[in-house]
Amino acid sequence: MVLDTLGRPVHDLRISVTDRCNFRCTYCMPASIFDKDYEFLAREQLLTFEEITRVARAFVGLGVSKIRLTGGEPLMRRGIENLIAMLAEIPGVDDLTLTTNASLLARRAHRLAAAGLDRVTVSLDSLDDTVFRAMNDVGFPVADVLEGIEAADEAGLAPIKINCVVIRGVNDHTIVPMAEHFRRSGHIVRFIEYMDVGTTNGWCLDDVVPAAEIISRIGEVHPVAPVEPNYVGEVANRYRYTDGWGEFGVIASVTQPFCGDCSRVRLSAEGSIYTCLFASAGTDLRGPIRDGVSDAELEQRVAAVWSRRADRYSERRSEVTFRRRKVEMSYIGG
Ligand code: GTP
Ligand code: 5AD
Ligand code: SF4
Ligand code: SF4
Repeated sequence: MVLDTLGRPVHDLRISVTDRCNFRCTYCMPASIFDKDYEFLAREQLLTFEEITRVARAFVGLGVSKIRLTGGEPLMRRGIENLIAMLAEIPGVDDLTLTTNASLLARRAHRLAAAGLDRVTVSLDSLDDTVFRAMNDVGFPVADVLEGIEAADEAGLAPIKINCVVIRGVNDHTIVPMAEHFRRSGHIVRFIEYMDVGTTNGWCLDDVVPAAEIISRIGEVHPVAPVEPNYVGEVANRYRYTDGWGEFGVIASVTQPFCGDCSRVRLSAEGSIYTCLFASAGTDLRGPIRDGVSDAELEQRVAAVWSRRADRYSERRSEVTFRRRKVEMSYIGG
């Protein structure tokens, strides 16, 4: 086990497997920037599944027990089921999950589960079809996402979580219908405060709907009460409906930062590790791996990076920090 300079262990490895996505969510990959001339990573720049698995093993050796695959859109990486099978075999990985926009999920859910995936988290920002199509900016319909969620449920990829990024004036009027739709389903919606990730989305504080407001808007319709976290460092604050019909979460990284318990490390698709979602730079592992570093040396390198870590961006967010150059969400995967 290794601790960073603030005494935080590393528990959760998030692996971005591609920087590509078939959506152009306005807050993540604005179409004006991620256009046909945008240079995505080339195939040889991506870590292979074997290389990813080696890095994962090194982190498991340091205490990681939870792995999340992200993108971009992770189901766009060809053969992802093979990677899932390789990661599922690592002793010590007890939660293997994936965050997806669900556009390709209906067709793939059974194969993903068979490969060893435990569960999925689906991004869905509104149940209002017009609002959702405008937010994903490729006209993708709500109905197809719901079909993907259903397929995942049938395949046993549960409990399913639904991530909903809330932006004032864009989808905040659809919070309550979203909460109501899922509250009896066994799936858990998590409303996420819109964050200043990357530098392309034009974020400003006025766009953020504070978690307290989200909770009170839902609470006005269905009484709610707070619930204890499932584990130390859980990013979502949990609430249950007092009538017993389900729960939802809020992820308040802007108004109530949770860096104190942050035990997450991120691996980019091209093999750099980032110790914060808002980091400006990572540490390259692909070079050393392709130069023939041993497993023991690899573990030493990642331990050294973690032990030097001092990140707590959300707690220090200010005019200055938020204008700094940072990696994009589509690159690092959320
Ligand atoms: P569970 O294991 O299901 O509890 O999920 P998780 O805690 O891994 O959450 P998930 O990956 O679904 O995170 C939901 C969202 O919270 C992400 O997409 C980000 O928007 C935000 N988030 C997650 N981790 C961090 C973090 O370390 N810092 C900040 N600022 N936001 C985060
Ligand atoms: N703020 C908050 N959440 C975001 N996501 C992407 N960009 C942002 C942002 N700027 C969410 C996506 C997805 C997850 C990977 O991160 O909606 O659910
Ligand atoms: Fe794609 Fe997810 Fe970003 Fe939307 S939020 S563009 S689905 S990676
Ligand atoms: Fe962790 Fe950085 Fe998010 Fe804070 S801002 S919770 S340190 S990833």
